[in-house]
Parts: sequence; structure tokens; C-alpha cells
Amino acid sequence: MEKKDINWSSLGFGYMPTDYRFVAHWKDGKWDEGELITDPTVHISECAGVLQYAQTCFEGLKVYTTKDGSIVAFRPDMNAKRMQDSARRLIIPEVSEEMFLRALDEVVKANAAWVPPYGSGASLYIRPFVYGSGPVIGVAPAPEYEFRLIATPVGPYFKGGVKPIRIRVSDYDRAAPHGTGHIKAGLNYAMSLYPIVEAHNEGYSENMYLDAATRTYVEETGGANFIFITKDGKLVTPKSDSILPSITRRSILQVAKDYLGMETEERPVPFSEVKEFAEIGLCGTAAVISPVGSITCKDGEILVPSGMDEMGPVLTKIRETLTGIQMCDLPAPEGWVRKIM
Ligand code: PLP
Ligand code: COI
Repeated sequence: MEKKDINWSSLGFGYMPTDYRFVAHWKDGKWDEGELITDPTVHISECAGVLQYAQTCFEGLKVYTTKDGSIVAFRPDMNAKRMQDSARRLIIPEVSEEMFLRALDEVVKANAAWVPPYGSGASLYIRPFVYGSGPVIGVAPAPEYEFRLIATPVGPYFKGGVKPIRIRVSDYDRAAPHGTGHIKAGLNYAMSLYPIVEAHNEGYSENMYLDAATRTYVEETGGANFIFITKDGKLVTPKSDSILPSITRRSILQVAKDYLGMETEERPVPFSEVKEFAEIGLCGTAAVISPVGSITCKDGEILVPSGMDEMGPVLTKIRETLTGIQMCDLPAPEGWVRKIM
């Protein structure tokens, strides 16, 4: 199979329509089988639930080419489950894990020419999403839904790849629905657009959000969770019901313990402790592990000891181990890698 003529190593994190996408429809209480289509444009009611009341949620995962030329996905079953959690909170009919994984396999196989080669530093980003497509005008769930799964080749999320970034503490709260944790839903992200544009305009790559109730604990950023390394080499990550339960973070906790023999702590992290950490990273599907070099807050700038030049040694080790597992250079824990072709 001939690959598309793309300069894979120069890709940033952007959308590029690929040849095929999967779409399924929910009507009269059930999902149809779904199918691959070529049309990248969605055709729905002007009064669709997604347009009027933001009734939509999404997922994000990556697909890689391994050294032996196989194409694999990292823990897609976890994304399927999390999309069901998000859907329940929004009264969107759940997409079964079976349909989610079938859509993934079909889209990746049909777009194999778009999967970046091993060693290019790029990957195929998969964006599954489900939205109210039928009309509503009173505040109510939509009568019809669509599930789509699209694929686009991507490079690093932050410009500069793995160069440390500057972030700042946001004055805004991360919009998380109360009592359910942060679900991966469109409206949460729409509410983070104003702060992210403001942050970018002021020279920061991301926002650090604090807990809305007391503004004393670290939550997460607009698109990734935090991991911290203490001066004695321990991994600390915030525990909170109002951050997205990152699959990357949950994987890193296990990798740090079982592959690197590190001590790990998942607990509330007061912002006052941040200046004590040796290394700070953002973790997520898009971010992978991206180092933070400085954090600006009301009292000034906290310079992370690992510096602005390159990722610190402990995060580097964790990142190499995690990406080694994702690309099958290292043996993965049971069930973490789905071979697609
Ligand atoms: N937090 C937010 C707000 C995100 O958008 C993401 C990305 O999906 C994450 C955390 C990281 O989650 P995951 O590791 O499952 O990609
Ligand atoms: C992901 O990591 O998949 C996300 O959804 C984060 C988003 C900022 C692109």
C-alpha cells in the first residue's frame, strides 16, 4: 500500500480530511449498523440538539505504525468506556464498545495510507464523537443522534515538540459539570476557548486551572492532566473529581510503578506545593508527555528547576517507556495494544 505524499515529520496538530469516516445513526430507540462514507461534511437539522444545546461528546486516541509495519491503537477500549460515561451524562444514547472498536478498525484500515510511518514522530489521531442530530426547541434531548469516527494524521500538540512550555494559572474555572467529574464534552471545551485565546495572546501555551470551589488545588489544563516529579524522584498526580480521567495518566501511573519502580501518589495537590517539584509535565493523548518550564501566577513566575531548555530526566524516561509501549518497542501490559492490521 502506497502512503500519502505527506512530510510526516513536519506535521503539527491539525485537521486534514482523510478518505473515509464511519457514521452510524440512532433513531426510534436504536443504532443502525453504521458504515464507512467519503463525505467529510455533516448534514443535520438546523435545530439539531448539538447546535442548540451542545448535546455532544467526543474522544481522542492515537494509532501508530510499529517497527514491523503493524498498525496498532493504544487502549481504545478505555476511550469507548469513557465516551459511554460522557454520553450518559448528556442523555446521548451509548455507543457500544463493539461498534466503537469496529468503527476504529474500519476507518484505520480504509485510511491505512494516512497512518504515519514508524519513526516519523507522527501518528494517526482518531476522533470519535456523538451528537444530537434531530431537532429540539424546548430544552430536551434530541430525538435522533449520529456517531462519527474520523481520522487525521498529526504531529506534536505543542509547537516545538518536546521543548518545555510556559503556562499560566487561569482566573477562569474549568467548566466541569458538578458531581460527575469532567466529561469529555464539547461545551467544556467551548468554555475554555476564551481563556486559551487570552493565554496564547499573552505568550503562554496553556492554562493551569485550579479547583473552582477553593482555588487552592491544581486541577488540569485545557487539554491535558498534570504529572509532577518530586525532588526525590516520586511521581505525584492530582486526584480530583472535576478533571478528565486521562487514560494517559492512568497508564503512566502503572508504567512508573511497574516498569520504572517509581513511587507514585495520586492525591490532591495544593498549588502552594507546585514550586517544590523538580519536573512538571502535561500528559494526554495529544500532549503525550510535554514538559512545563514555567508557571506564571499572581505572585510571579515559578521557574521549574528542570528548566526551559529540555525535558527533565525523569519525565524523559517515563515518556520513552510509555511511547515504547505504545509503538510496541517494549512489551505492553495485557490488553493495552489493539492490533488493527
Ligand atoms: N484533560 C483534558 C481536558 C483533555 O482534553 C485530555 C485529552 O483527552 C486529557 C486530560 C488527557 O486524557 P487522555 O490521556 O485520555 O487523552
Ligand atoms: C486529546 O488529547 O485527545 C484531546 O482531546 C485533547 C485536545 C486538547 C486535543
